[in-house]
Amino acid sequence: MNILAPSILAADFWRLGEQVREVEKAGVQYLHIDVMDGCFVPSISFGMPIIRSIRKETELFLDVHLMIEQPRRYIEAIAGLGADMINFHLEAAEDAAEVIELIRSFGKKAGITIKPETSVDALLPYLDKVDMVLVMTVEPGAGGQKLIPGCLEKVKELRNVMYKRGLRFDIEVDGGVNIDNLEQVLEAGANVIVAGSAIFKNDIAVNAKLFLDKMQQELGVNNGTI
Ligand code: DX5
Ligand code: ZN
Repeated sequence: MNILAPSILAADFWRLGEQVREVEKAGVQYLHIDVMDGCFVPSISFGMPIIRSIRKETELFLDVHLMIEQPRRYIEAIAGLGADMINFHLEAAEDAAEVIELIRSFGKKAGITIKPETSVDALLPYLDKVDMVLVMTVEPGAGGQKLIPGCLEKVKELRNVMYKRGLRFDIEVDGGVNIDNLEQVLEAGANVIVAGSAIFKNDIAVNAKLFLDKMQQELGVNNGTI
């Protein structure tokens, strides 16, 4: 199934609740929540209180993307706030297998994330243990950047490895996705699509509908195999 995950990093925080309602009404399935610590990435975004407030008000699947050093320190807290999926960066973890196990121990889905310069090979030991792989298509740390096309090659490679090894996990793409390159991203083999600025800039309902319609069409083209 193709899933749209709007990233609230691009929302207007003055009107966050209202804007979450808008994407919810448009029929999106996930909400992507970017937590930055100012160490793993230069910027600081937001953390626990925001996740808590969102969880209280919505049933949307909360896809939390941790851009923090030593993510194991925060898994219990983030799980306790009601995240449904926790993605951590392979580059930031001392022991990625342990982090995956920890996420699972709280009954949450586990996702492993790679930056643009990290290879698919580095993921190989973990692919049978995760629910999702998040392939960054920009340097993590900021919204509104341009997608790096070379990263889509990694998405293709990952999907091949998945088929060859008979594994099943979602492949999420994050960074610079817009309505013009969406088809290319889906064709590379991603089935969970993060979009920040392309959803929250201008008319949210119109943007979300365009994305969802296109994702539906692509599913037809791919004969529902993704
Ligand atoms: C970047 C974040 C992304 C970001 C995407 O570090 O992980 O989720 O919000 O924003 P756009 O879609 O604007 O590139
Ligand atoms: Zn993200």
